[in-house]
Amino acid sequence: MSLFKTKSWLECLQCHRKYDLDSVRYSCDCGGLLDLTRDLGKIDGKKLLKTWEKRWGMKSGVESSGVWRYRELILDAPDDKIITKQEGNTRLYPAGKAGEYAGLKNFLLKHEGENPSGSFKDRGMTCGITAANVYGAKCVACASTGNTSASMAAYAAKCGFRSIIFIPSGKIAYGKLAQALAYGGLTLQIDGNFDDAMTLVQEICEKLDIYLLNSINPFRIEGQKAICFEILQQLDWKVPDWFVIPGGNLGNSSALSKGLMELHELGIIKKIPRIAVIQASGANPLYKMWKFNTPFKAVKDPETIATAIKIGNPVSWEKSLRGIRWSNGVVEEVTEQEIMDAKAMVDAAGIGAEPASCCSVAGAKKLVDAGIISSDESVVGILTGNVLKDPDAVINYHMDNLKDKGIHGTFANRPISVKATLEAVKAVL
Ligand code: F0G
Repeated sequence: MSLFKTKSWLECLQCHRKYDLDSVRYSCDCGGLLDLTRDLGKIDGKKLLKTWEKRWGMKSGVESSGVWRYRELILDAPDDKIITKQEGNTRLYPAGKAGEYAGLKNFLLKHEGENPSGSFKDRGMTCGITAANVYGAKCVACASTGNTSASMAAYAAKCGFRSIIFIPSGKIAYGKLAQALAYGGLTLQIDGNFDDAMTLVQEICEKLDIYLLNSINPFRIEGQKAICFEILQQLDWKVPDWFVIPGGNLGNSSALSKGLMELHELGIIKKIPRIAVIQASGANPLYKMWKFNTPFKAVKDPETIATAIKIGNPVSWEKSLRGIRWSNGVVEEVTEQEIMDAKAMVDAAGIGAEPASCCSVAGAKKLVDAGIISSDESVVGILTGNVLKDPDAVINYHMDNLKDKGIHGTFANRPISVKATLEAVKAVL
């Protein structure tokens, strides 16, 4: 008997070899990445849309999740195996000040930092950990720049799995490290960067039979697709002209385009929006490849204040590139200063997000300035993580303490020391 009820299979991006879902597998024997694939010809797009609309606003149950609401295109797992925290259901904000800053009249920000563990990772994680549960795994692992580990540890804690986390030593934001420890993940700070941790965790999972929950796992990508389903449902299925999204390990942008491709094939959307993937200039292998039309080459010592995307050898670059090409998209890079100034604007708009998230706004501004996005086009930017994930970055920017990194507190809002008297406060006001 098949473990999943599904008629899905895994298919290699390179050689198109197919594998059934009965055994655990993260890549093809040829080394290629795997897609979870289903026969969309057997799905009636119109009926599916009606089902999704009926589920909107459900108060409880599996389908009240902003991922499992779309379960037909996520994963056909039985209800009693699904591990969910009602993830998703995040807001889509008018960008306000951040929109003016970017030079856009119609700019919306999807705040994935409003997920249960404070980042978009929860969408992929509910699907990945559900797959682990179906396979009967009791121990899960990931390498992480912080958010994947926070999310994995939270879901593992919920269902009683052991979680093992590999993080680059001393290089992840405090909020994220705090979460990993708080949720009880066994946290291994390895002597190396994220790319080293990623190589190590793959070897360890294979040799020690631990279930790998990085986004090389195709089930993670399936859950992450729900971001675009939910945005489009919030927009009554009116497709924006652009999606702008940060790129690190490149799983999220891969999921965005895969979701859109499926909706398009099903006839649920007719227009193909353009996807802009934004990398930090110190961790920009996809940008370099795109800009100079060269073969993929990892960046050796990636460096950026946006530690979430400090990644030189992204696992999913081929999937991401496939989506960019399909959508007539672009890749852009942004400097440290551009990231932090855009962040100051996202924060000052009362929305708030961690540095990596704000690549969306910094990138949108750059593309508007370059005339690639026009100011009256409709744009949705993805904010991937919560403002509280990285308090150090916020304080240091506003105290103008980042000069050694070449970043100035352009829009700094410094705290002011004041005597505890009416006169002193009046003088300041
Ligand atoms: N934004 C945030 C806040 C992230 O945490 C990440 C990735 C990204 C953007 C980039 O997404 O990797 O799918 O291209 N964080 C991973 C982690 C790598 O370990 O938490 P991506």
